[in-house]
Amino acid sequence: MHFIVTGGAGFIGSHVTEQLLSEDHYVTVVDNLTTGNLNNLPEHPRLKFLEKDILACQPEDFSKPIDGIAHLAATPSVTESWLQPLAAHHNNLSATIAVIELCQALEIPRLVFTSSAAVYGNPVQLPITETHPTSPISPYGLQKLVSEQYASLFAQQFGFSMVALRLFNVFGPRQAPNSQYSGVISIFVNAMRQGLPITIYGDGTQTRDFVYVKNVANAFAKALITSLTSGSCIVANVGTGKSISLVELVDILKTCFPQWQSELKFAPARPGDIKDSQADISNASTHLDFTSQWSVESGLQYLIESLDPVKG
Ligand code: UD1
Repeated sequence: MHFIVTGGAGFIGSHVTEQLLSEDHYVTVVDNLTTGNLNNLPEHPRLKFLEKDILACQPEDFSKPIDGIAHLAATPSVTESWLQPLAAHHNNLSATIAVIELCQALEIPRLVFTSSAAVYGNPVQLPITETHPTSPISPYGLQKLVSEQYASLFAQQFGFSMVALRLFNVFGPRQAPNSQYSGVISIFVNAMRQGLPITIYGDGTQTRDFVYVKNVANAFAKALITSLTSGSCIVANVGTGKSISLVELVDILKTCFPQWQSELKFAPARPGDIKDSQADISNASTHLDFTSQWSVESGLQYLIESLDPVKG
């Protein structure tokens, strides 16, 4: 089959691309390389790369037939969405509408949209099912929620099928640790391998459902190929179904970095930080045959093995 992956040179998109290639599919990656990097992609005879913003793409840029599009291109940052709301709106919501137009023009039967646990806002019950109230507490969460609604509306009207994957806390190789708002695992792993201190914001009892990126890539591949009637829409959480606290995370990381002797600091909780998060993944299991194959521990092991040795 032939799939388009938008944002395919990014952290999660490059793993989705690899997964699809490993399943013998043809992949066209579209990426403007703002946050993506060509080094994230393999050279592969079944892989085509188009350096372009998805908002600038025309149907003529692609060769038909296309069996599905996985839309991962976005500004995946809550902080950015507060600082530059219009730009984030453009890259997160308008870009999704551009993808919907491509689905129509190119008669693409399946759209898999990258949504986020951010659509739920502050959880009022755990684990979080897809019927949990949606009440975003950031422009980013709102943009993801409205994108889901656009995709669902157009899928029903024009007869393509749509799967929205609400990702929980994804981690793994190629996740950039370059700001204090990067994923906490990328920050802690980066610091610990260099023997640097780490900081927990709050008391460390906050919990998250950390999901290894290969689990997520699997969910995308299943969402692209699973059999669905035209016009149908599925919304599915993607996590492990289990959560751990930050203190527990640090304990696991200490076993991965036994030589780490630096300081564990505590600082005040970040404003707007949610306390607990844990996905109910029964929808993904029922509709997409999804199972979380990699645990946090095994994912961390793969992540650490994938890193280049620290220089110096
Ligand atoms: C995550 C998503 C975010 C999404 C939200 C939805 C990531 C990177 N972010 O945010 O896009 O909107 O879920 O619920 O996946 N922390 C530390 N020390 C650090 C860095 C972070 O203690 O150096 C703490 C944070 O304060 C937070 C926890 O670790 O309590 C997780 O932080 P982070 O990885 O940024 O993810 P979320 O805040 O859950």
